[in-house]
Amino acid sequence: MTVLNSSVADAASFLRNDELVAIPTETVYGLAGNALNAAVVLKIFEAKERPSFDPLIVHIPSKEAAFLYAEDVPPVALKLMEAFWPGPLTLVLKKKSIIPDVVTSGLDTVGLRMPNHAMTLELLNHLDFPLAAPSANPFGYISPTTAQHVMDQLDSKIAMVLDGGACKVGVESTIVGFEEGETVIYRLGGLTPEDIRKVAGEVEIRINSSSDPKAPGMLKSHYAPSKPLYISNDLDQLIELNNGSRLAVICFGDVMIDEKHAIYNLSATGDFTEAASNLFAYLRAIDKRDDIDAIVAAYLPESSLGFAINDRLSRAAVK
Ligand code: TXA
Ligand code: MG
Repeated sequence: MTVLNSSVADAASFLRNDELVAIPTETVYGLAGNALNAAVVLKIFEAKERPSFDPLIVHIPSKEAAFLYAEDVPPVALKLMEAFWPGPLTLVLKKKSIIPDVVTSGLDTVGLRMPNHAMTLELLNHLDFPLAAPSANPFGYISPTTAQHVMDQLDSKIAMVLDGGACKVGVESTIVGFEEGETVIYRLGGLTPEDIRKVAGEVEIRINSSSDPKAPGMLKSHYAPSKPLYISNDLDQLIELNNGSRLAVICFGDVMIDEKHAIYNLSATGDFTEAASNLFAYLRAIDKRDDIDAIVAAYLPESSLGFAINDRLSRAAVK
């Protein structure tokens, strides 16, 4: 049986005993274990059924802690830490040997992040090791944004879920790395490309959609519900094409949709932050319904968090 409560002390004690605990962050829930213990890290891969070529993010309690696990930190990385930590930013830095190779899938870099969640920061401050944590979902499925989402799938597979409420941001961290003097965004997330540019200056966006392990977590199919999801810029046409099915419609802003469909408006007022925080919870809620056959969704406008949301929707969609 998996323990579900809000006790940081309980979570710390399970983690010290080399058990796995799902932890709340501002982005999504993570499936955490001692990042310095290779055997524990292997248990994370097993619980998630995650392929070993997909490296994990290491969660740390402070900016200073970054220097325990990374070296040759470029000045621009420091500026980004100052501006956005704690927050939805993962920095890919040259790793020190204290980080086991299983964490990074053999890469010589490590993804570090200081999450912005009071409970999890308190937890990290209690521990004398950092936490490796991928999103706490079975590999390929929708990321969890509540403790109950984690319980729905990992109950009895892990020791504990630390309940820290619903995640405020709702999409994963933005991942940024540094290559030969260039700042590169590898994954769009809770910080927008504009946010990063304001601090880092010129930024390359290199989102890969192959199964290249160096391309961070960017498998083509991911975040996928079990019902088919179709996506387009022309929502009316998409609804028309799928007229024979019982549809859930994911939309955004001030739109008119026939009420015979199940309508899930990410934000009726067109607020990107609200939309991001609703996205994964809506997908999970729809996926549970017996009275829905398929999901249709409209791309959001390409600005602000719209980039990250569109990225998640297109990976969740039928290819
Ligand atoms: O918001 C988040 O980042 C959440 C919360 C729990 O912190 N975590 C998360 O983890 O989204 P995960 O494992 O679902 O996605 C992390 C991605 C992986 O797909 C991996 O490819 C990439 O980060 N990554 C980790 N270390 C890397 C490295 N050294 N180089 C390149 N990519 C890396
Ligand atoms: Mg994930």
